[in-house]
Amino acid sequence: MDFKKLLLIVGSMFLIVGVSNAQQFKYIGASKCKMCHNKPDKGKQYDMWKAAAHSKAFETLATAEAKKYSDDPQKDPKCLKCHSTYHYADKGLMMSIKEDEGVSCESCHGPGSAYKSMTIMKSKEKSLAKGMTEPTEAVCKTCHNEESPTYKPFNYAEAVKKIAHPNPKK
Ligand code: HEC
Ligand code: HEC
Ligand code: HEC
Ligand code: HEC
Repeated sequence: MDFKKLLLIVGSMFLIVGVSNAQQFKYIGASKCKMCHNKPDKGKQYDMWKAAAHSKAFETLATAEAKKYSDDPQKDPKCLKCHSTYHYADKGLMMSIKEDEGVSCESCHGPGSAYKSMTIMKSKEKSLAKGMTEPTEAVCKTCHNEESPTYKPFNYAEAVKKIAHPNPKK
């Protein structure tokens, strides 16, 4: 075997190992964020979310209104993909997150398994490198679009105000 061929083989082996070692960020669920993000002086993000529409998106699928669009909406993948973070991505990426959390933190902020620790979270840069994502208009529109059977025109500036959960200390 000539040297070039050998290099090629060794090179592609490294490539395969590299790909299989690539970190997979997983979904851990809102209760795991709650322990750090429900402090009254920092804005109670968990309670804000829990009281608003996104956390109820799975329950909504049990209403009479929902049954107009599907025989069994809470079991229909066509509805679940937008109404439950648990069904928003590959099943293999779902760790402790639950189906009935509806549209959970991680649909907007990214899967938290690797950024959830205090040392990572304290740095925005490190968090972004460990799976956190910016909740941009494009993220909203993965669900707020015309594929929704009850679609209402989506005004980002207004919508983002309705779901605001800022840290008053910042
Ligand atoms: C061990 C505590 C801890 C856990 C668990 C935790 N966070 Fe954080 N998080 C922090 C700290 C500390 C900061 C930085 C200061 C602040 O905003 O309070 C932060 C910042 C953030 C920010 C702001 C990032 C920015 O733009 O600067 C977001 C968004 C966030 N966390 C989301 C989450 C989500 C979603 C989860 C659950 C998947 C989670 N965090 C779990 C401690 C935690
Ligand atoms: C994973 C899908 C998904 C993503 C991503 C998403 N949403 Fe939603 N959103 C929903 C669903 C489903 C509902 C309806 C919940 C219900 O009523 O049960 C909803 C409801 C809302 C409502 C309440 C509507 C009302 O008038 O009561 C607002 C406001 C909203 N979303 C804003 C946003 C914004 C802003 C973003 C991006 C930062 C966003 N959403 C991202 C699925 C999503
Ligand atoms: C592409 C994402 C998406 C899909 C697919 C989807 N929904 Fe929704 N659903 C939303 C969003 C976003 C909202 C809130 C705003 C709106 O209606 O545009 C919502 C709101 C609702 C509401 C509340 C409407 C209201 O006026 O309060 C019901 C009921 C509902 N959806 C049922 C269903 C059913 C049943 C299915 C499956 C046949 C389904 N949805 C599929 C994204 C989706
Ligand atoms: C529908 C999308 C959506 C959901 C669901 C959501 N967030 Fe957010 N979150 C946002 C947006 C948008 C911002 C504002 C980002 C900005 O200002 O750049 C934000 C900001 C934050 C911040 C930063 C606050 C600040 O002022 O520093 C924290 C912390 C946070 N979210 C935590 C959470 C936690 C914890 C949950 C679940 C319990 C959650 N979020 C659910 C979209 C969402």
